Amino acid sequence: MKTKNAKYITIKQALSKIKDNDYIVLGMAGAEPREFVSHIHEIAPRINHVTLTNCLPITPVPFYVDSQYKDKFQLDGWFYNPSMRKASENGNVSFIPNHLHLAGKKRFDTHKPDVFVGVCSPVDKHGYVSLSLSNVYEQDAISRARVVILEENPNFPRVFGDVELHVSKIDYLVKTSYPAPVLTKATINEKDKIIGKYISDLIQDGSCIQLGIGGMPDAVADALITKKNLGLHTEMFTTGAMKLIKAGVINGSQKQLYKNKHVACFALGEKELYDFLDNNPSCLMLDGNFVNDPAVIGQNDNQVSINACIEIDLSGQCASESIGFKQFSGTGGQSDTAVGAQNSKNGISFIALYSTASVKNPETGIREETSKIVPILKPGAAVSLSRNDVDRVVTEYGVVNLRGTSIEERTKLLISIAHPNFREELTKEAIRMGYIFEGK
Ligand code: COA
Repeated sequence: MKTKNAKYITIKQALSKIKDNDYIVLGMAGAEPREFVSHIHEIAPRINHVTLTNCLPITPVPFYVDSQYKDKFQLDGWFYNPSMRKASENGNVSFIPNHLHLAGKKRFDTHKPDVFVGVCSPVDKHGYVSLSLSNVYEQDAISRARVVILEENPNFPRVFGDVELHVSKIDYLVKTSYPAPVLTKATINEKDKIIGKYISDLIQDGSCIQLGIGGMPDAVADALITKKNLGLHTEMFTTGAMKLIKAGVINGSQKQLYKNKHVACFALGEKELYDFLDNNPSCLMLDGNFVNDPAVIGQNDNQVSINACIEIDLSGQCASESIGFKQFSGTGGQSDTAVGAQNSKNGISFIALYSTASVKNPETGIREETSKIVPILKPGAAVSLSRNDVDRVVTEYGVVNLRGTSIEERTKLLISIAHPNFREELTKEAIRMGYIFEGK
């Protein structure tokens, strides 16, 4: 246990604390320490084998994007962004399979963090900082690390929950002033609107919701504006959720767990969201191990989870994070939240997808429409949500309920919401595979 107050140092001095073979854990997403990650490649001449983990890096910086550093630094993570997808081809990056809840714990039990580097709001009059925009695994890593370095930044909101940290637990603070990273609202297309309406029609007043990132969740958030007394128990606090709170749609009044409070484990969105979170006692940023635990999620009645997938096979297996063996994103909290919603009394979990994807043919370079509902997943595809855990599936052609269905039943249901151009082919394949039977 550290006992002395944190010392202010420069970023150069912070980098001088890194040694050969160090394992460094970084604050994730909006809480990424931007000064540190932008400069760490500068110590490449003096160090060897430094490994870093960030669940969701935001800034594409030289240490992992530039292949010349692959023998010096290794970035491991649970969720790929576009730069990580590219960097994985160079050998700078590798993927850690896991559910979001316990992802940090399992990793740190086997890889003890030497250094934690994150961000925080300014030290308050009681000697506390707030870890601000993420509490997914940060506190766990901080409690295990030999050295804790935080970039103190007045542009980051002072958020409540379990994100408070006393200066006696911090070794070094670096003063910074970059803006908190902003994620603007996704473009919502006609398909998103149709899918958003299907989902919102099934969400009753008083439900507790989880909303993720992207056009579809944003469309759902827009469509929920007519609801009443919703609650929020979610992994990611989004701008869409904040707008529903400001509109009085989300008030948490019907929640069983953290009544009248809005619970998340990280936040990423527009500046308006960060201003809303700042010093706001109604918003709780709690530990990801807890927030995303399916047993905890299930404690609120009428919990609704909404997630997306890349392809779904006719038995209901959802490949949501890879295109074949190519890692695209990560499991994140998909399985946590889908299983959690089904643990909840009257809970519903949705998997939303367009019926088709427009995929570039590698030989011709021309984009071709392909069905996202498929007889079998692409070879190597990672199953993010098991067929045992799949519940409602939504495309722009409707919603089906796969919960408790047989393979024969779910095959027919899934074909009914596939794009009409692919239904005949899917039926033929399903018969060939023995999932359904001709004339029955
Ligand atoms: N076959 C081949 N390629 C496919 C495909 C399929 N069935 N489905 C999608 N793609 C391609 C698209 O063509 C697109 O490629 P492009 O960039 O060249 O156009 C790419 O994959 C992304 O597809 P898109 O539909 O735009 O994805 P998205 O940004 O809406 O994200 C997921 C969808 C499923 C990848 C995303 O929701 C995710 O990562 N989910 C898993 C984790 C999760 O659910 N988290 C929530 C809690 S953390």
